[in-house]
Amino acid sequence: MSITIKWYGHGTYGLEVGGHKLIVDPFFAPHNPAAPVSVDEVEADFILQTHGHGDHIADTLALGQRTGALVISNFEICTWLGKQGHENTHGMNIGGGYQFDFGRTEMTLALHSSGLPDGAYGGNPGGFLIRAEDRVVYLSGDTAVFSDMALIGAVGLDLAVLPIGDNFTMSPEGSLAAIKYLHPRVVIPGHYNTWPLVAQDANAWRARVQAETDAEAVVLQVGDTYTVS
Ligand code: NI
Ligand code: MN
Repeated sequence: MSITIKWYGHGTYGLEVGGHKLIVDPFFAPHNPAAPVSVDEVEADFILQTHGHGDHIADTLALGQRTGALVISNFEICTWLGKQGHENTHGMNIGGGYQFDFGRTEMTLALHSSGLPDGAYGGNPGGFLIRAEDRVVYLSGDTAVFSDMALIGAVGLDLAVLPIGDNFTMSPEGSLAAIKYLHPRVVIPGHYNTWPLVAQDANAWRARVQAETDAEAVVLQVGDTYTVS
């Protein structure tokens, strides 16, 4: 058994964790101009929702309703999803963890915002720290770099997934600082090249990560899958 991660473009990922299918921040075609598939073409047992912005939650209800997936998110977003008709949720908050069927998952701090598409209060944004299959994976969600990433990294990360798009999140430069706090074995970038506003040169980013940090940088093309070793 192992953990694999597939990039659907922007901040949307599909993880297979010991046979369980997880989708992180459902945002598929046509909402997501980078995504190769629509929400009708993916399966999920669990949906991990980092925050309430439309570029992360646009397809959550559709995916949740069709698949019956359990949505894991902050309490406010789970309550909001219940009012929209999807009641199979598990509300959490920053610093808390829970043993799900696929592994223990903690919500982590994110330095961002979390308003929902209809203007409702979306609680605090977060990330996820997943311990499963003898691996530790950190999905930061949308965030700036913050020095408490050192606390997250202290547990020993096999993989960190970080945004590099700039403007709405940390920049490539900011991610270098984040990697130095987190010390992951491997880092995968996301939240870039969705629109011109977040255009980045991922190969230039990779060269800097390789030269300036201890992490191995893995740049996925949209649709690529990486196996956490
Ligand atoms: Ni956001
Ligand atoms: Mn975003």
